[in-house]
Amino acid sequence: MFSSLLCVDDVEKKALPLLPKQVRDYYQGGADDEATLKRNKSAYKKFLIRPKCLEDVSHIRTSQSFKMGKFHFEVPCPVGIAPSAFHRMAHDEGEKATAKAAGRAKTIMILSSLSTTSMEDVAKASQDAILWFQLYVYRDKTVTKRLIERAFENGYKAIVLTVDAPIFGRRREDSRNAFQLPPHLQFANFSEVQEKLAQMPDVTTGTSGLWQYAKNLFDESINWKDLKWLVETSPLPVVVKGVMRGDDAVRAVESGAAGVIVSNHGGRQLDFAPSTVEVLPEVMAAVSGRVPVFVDGGVRSGNDVFKAMALGAQMVFVGRPVLWGLTVGGSEGVSHVLDILKSELEYTMKLSGHTSIEEVQQSKNLVVPSSYFLSKL
Ligand code: FNR
Ligand code: LAC
Repeated sequence: MFSSLLCVDDVEKKALPLLPKQVRDYYQGGADDEATLKRNKSAYKKFLIRPKCLEDVSHIRTSQSFKMGKFHFEVPCPVGIAPSAFHRMAHDEGEKATAKAAGRAKTIMILSSLSTTSMEDVAKASQDAILWFQLYVYRDKTVTKRLIERAFENGYKAIVLTVDAPIFGRRREDSRNAFQLPPHLQFANFSEVQEKLAQMPDVTTGTSGLWQYAKNLFDESINWKDLKWLVETSPLPVVVKGVMRGDDAVRAVESGAAGVIVSNHGGRQLDFAPSTVEVLPEVMAAVSGRVPVFVDGGVRSGNDVFKAMALGAQMVFVGRPVLWGLTVGGSEGVSHVLDILKSELEYTMKLSGHTSIEEVQQSKNLVVPSSYFLSKL
């Protein structure tokens, strides 16, 4: 069914025309001039891989493991699913389909607070997936607390606090489209709690309904004290998503974070933030092995995954590629995207002479910026 879709870019090309314009623009878009959105992808292409030769690569392993809090995590491939809102706009089965694909891959899926399927229903569909829950902090702390409790009760293994979105960035197409959820969909984690939290406010051209929702309900004053509060309140390890500097990574660790995700929200928040792969080395050096460091943004191939591993990340997470997979083929489509990335990673490992992710992570100067060669290219 997907035999002509050989790489993630093929899946994207197939998916885009299948989506209604409002949805396509929401999934695809970034903030302002979209400089960071583009840089996330282009920066990966500026790193080169220095291959080793004559290493026996007849047996390789792409598996990866790490500890966080009291949990030991093991995945067959270091690619997980980043949290993204509203999967049912891509496919009717939505987040359940994504969770099933994560289950088949035995990998981590981070479910968004803003999912169109409730976290209980996702947990039921997830089989062998490892679920983490992404948290947006609502001004009403009882709402926030209840989300954390429900995640714990339903077997989620970490709380992922997104720290780059006190308000949402300006995504121009969403404002032009007066972006709104289709009427049959809701913010499903809230439908039984409070109508106001389950619906997007009505807006007119010039404003996105999602932007207005966040402005009305999210806590813009979120700060380091809230992270400490969360670490103390949460029965689950807390991962901080949206760190872009070494000093903030250190502060997150010192505040009790069990892991850090280097992320600029896929270029949807602060425009002209650097790409994530560029800042990864700074964050790695600052964290210095105290907690696992993950990265997302612009990962579109096994080469990209390999590069992130060589620069020290424990895992990468992919956002849009999952939405393209969902669009072209529901759960099978997401599996196809994950399979492509795993298979490409295997090629990169074999052709560069590496038999395990640990070896990739420990190999010195394996991945270098192209300036390493003083090239005029
Ligand atoms: C996101 N992202 C996001 N992040 C988050 O913490 N909570 C959320 O609800 C969402 N929602 C969301 C929707 C859509 C459509 C996109 C594209 C992204 C950001 C996401 O977790 C991740 O940081 C980026 O998507 C990674 O970049 P790539 O892989 O899309 O390039
Ligand atoms: C976004 C939000 C939901 O990026 O995180 O659209």
